Amino acid sequence: MEPEERKELPAPHNLPTGDFYLYPVVASIVKAEIRERTVVVEWSDSTVSEFHFLWLRDNCPCCVHPYTLEQTYEVVNAPKNLKPAEVEVASSGALAIEWEPEDHKSIFHPGWLKKHCYSNQAPTSPNMKSVSWDSLTRTKPDEYDWEKIIRDEEVELQWLQSVQISGCALIHGVPQTDPAVGEVANRIGVVRHSNFGDLFDVRVDFDPVSNSNTGLELPPHTDLPTREYQPGMQLLHCITNNVKGGNSTLVDGFRVAEELQDRHPRAYELLTTVSWDFANRSRTSDYRWKAPMIGLDNFGELFEIRAGSWLRYPLQAPPDLMDEMYEAYQIFETTSHNKKFQIKFRLEAGDCIIFDNRRILHGRTAFEAQSGNRHLRGCYVDRDELRSRVRLLEGNKSRRSILSKIER
Ligand code: OGA
Ligand code: ZN
Repeated sequence: MEPEERKELPAPHNLPTGDFYLYPVVASIVKAEIRERTVVVEWSDSTVSEFHFLWLRDNCPCCVHPYTLEQTYEVVNAPKNLKPAEVEVASSGALAIEWEPEDHKSIFHPGWLKKHCYSNQAPTSPNMKSVSWDSLTRTKPDEYDWEKIIRDEEVELQWLQSVQISGCALIHGVPQTDPAVGEVANRIGVVRHSNFGDLFDVRVDFDPVSNSNTGLELPPHTDLPTREYQPGMQLLHCITNNVKGGNSTLVDGFRVAEELQDRHPRAYELLTTVSWDFANRSRTSDYRWKAPMIGLDNFGELFEIRAGSWLRYPLQAPPDLMDEMYEAYQIFETTSHNKKFQIKFRLEAGDCIIFDNRRILHGRTAFEAQSGNRHLRGCYVDRDELRSRVRLLEGNKSRRSILSKIER
């Protein structure tokens, strides 16, 4: 948002927040009090927040560059005895703090302050909030229309939220041109390049560099599990598909992991803690990585799945775990191949499937290469891009809602 625009808005929305968003005032500040190390704020919804002095000083909304809104205050320079000389609830509804010994005043927007309150809550994972599925709870990906996505930001947001929650979505009506998959990807963010190119073709090749360029079945897998950082979102756009066979399969890898945790706890324990070796070698490249097939984040939440039966390297596990590792691997594969966990659909010309490659396993049934043409174009976009785009669209939506209330 431009600083000039803020000035036109009534209080408290004309106050700088130190970032690019508008914040709804869900509760107003009733009282603010200085304690030994914190400022305690009482809200009109009867909740109480406690903010540490250094946290408040560090997040002073005016100590940012006026255009980039990146911080300019160096917390390392904060005086050891920094504390508020005075706090008050201003007539705008803001929390105003006079600092000492620094001669500085900070004004905090109440909506911003409430949104960033960290009292009474455990730190949460930055992971996307997902709802896992299997073929009993989902029969196909949520479907969207490309024309509607590009015309209406609300539809675009729904599409991307579907991708975050279920890990996949299908778009119809994408023009059957070579660059189109890149245009869908660029709607979200920048394309993640790989040795297969920024946009790649999936079609039968007479000198294939990968099984994907044959008519072979591709069992459920993630792409490039051989990289330290697996690509996030994968897009596959169908330009032609009139062969016999060649249907698409998706499996929610998080659901498979949950099944293992429930029914095969030892396999789950091994697959979340012992690394499997992956490799993708060719005459001109040699990619390798080792990591657990089921990745958990620092909060113990499911974070990523790595699977690619034909992209494995000779396993280097402790000898006393080798048999159990193979058993765990077979349990994972048997589960992800089980129809109970797979949804199947056919990509028709003009369809584009997008899925979280670090969560959703994808595959296809075999097809008869001589029976017609099958041509998909694909690319990757990292999870960061998706999260960023969703934040922007959510910010715009919230801004529209706040402005419409102000205008009424
Ligand atoms: C791939 C792949 C899916 C398909 O190329 O890695 O999964 O439907 N392709 O051909
Ligand atoms: Zn693939």
